[in-house]
Amino acid sequence: MKTQLLPATSEALALAARLLTDGQLVAFPTETVYGLGAHAMDAQAVRGIFEAKGRPGDNPLIVHIHDRSQLDAICTVNDAAIRLMDAFWPGPLTIILPRKAAVPDAVTAGLDTVAVRMPSHPVALALLQACNLPIAAPSANRSGKPSPTSARHVFDDMDGRIPLILDGGESDVGLESTVISMVGERPCILRPGGVTQAMLEAVVGPVDLAGSILRPLEKGEKALSPGMMYKHYSPDGQVTLIEGSERAVVQALRRLHSHASGEGHRACVMCFTEHVEALRDCHPHDIGSKDDPTEVAHRLFATLRALDEEKMDVIFSEVVPPEGVGLAVMNRLGRAAAFRTVRAEDVE
Ligand code: TXA
Ligand code: MG
Repeated sequence: MKTQLLPATSEALALAARLLTDGQLVAFPTETVYGLGAHAMDAQAVRGIFEAKGRPGDNPLIVHIHDRSQLDAICTVNDAAIRLMDAFWPGPLTIILPRKAAVPDAVTAGLDTVAVRMPSHPVALALLQACNLPIAAPSANRSGKPSPTSARHVFDDMDGRIPLILDGGESDVGLESTVISMVGERPCILRPGGVTQAMLEAVVGPVDLAGSILRPLEKGEKALSPGMMYKHYSPDGQVTLIEGSERAVVQALRRLHSHASGEGHRACVMCFTEHVEALRDCHPHDIGSKDDPTEVAHRLFATLRALDEEKMDVIFSEVVPPEGVGLAVMNRLGRAAAFRTVRAEDVE
């Protein structure tokens, strides 16, 4: 199959809407990451997503809408969920609600709940409006790769597998949406993102955090969000996180890099903008300012992809405090590193 990569003009949007109505797949930009869309009520079309991504069938998808009236056919809403929609939609928040029977099992992986989101990216909204269908869309990466934050990333993963990629520039947030479950006794964040726990609590009161956000699932522990079960976001090289005081971390990065290169590894560091100069001999990848976790979120996945392109095999990274958007960054970075962490003060 030939994959077209087109700027999101009105002609390209019309073509995309036709393909989706036809049961085919289209990749499109959202404010979080690029999505790989299919007609959500067409089980056959949805199965195509799993095939193109190489995604396990027991990992459910998010249904994207442009108008809340579409929810009637998809899920049962409750008052607290409506307050969240009022506050954060359109935007990077996915809400888990009880499903309706019309939603194919392929979308929900057979669960009795379904994930719904109204994205804010103008191209995503224009596409949803043009086809006037609910669109099931996971991130448009091959399963196990970092989510794509540009059309080029999607092309690298999906060339030959899907007919069309709409180019809408770089994703703004850079990490996938916050996923909140509204089916339990208390709201629970299953995946942290740009909409933070504090922002959610300001609207619906106390919100729980799923246990496995900053650690691997324990043996026998059930994932609240099936996506958490899978190895995620790992570059081909081995990532190690370095914690500690600023000075100690910079010194440790220099030592660890020098040691690894001395052993013949292709080694590099992921560091804050403020430390690039001090680490200029350590093949630094600038992850953004230490005072701006939003910028780190924006750059993280592109950086992880660059490490693979450069065939780095040993990577040492700085960390951000796991608060606010920093929690979402550390959830992804932690998984990229398989939670391997070293204290800077312990590095000789
Ligand atoms: O920002 C985003 O959310 C992007 C853009 C394209 O919208 N989409 C995205 O989809 O990240 P995906 O499939 O890569 O991640 C969806 C996550 C998975 O971890 C999945 O397990 C979880 O949401 N999920 C979906 N339906 C669920 C359900 N009914 N119950 C619990 N978790 C669910
Ligand atoms: Mg994904």
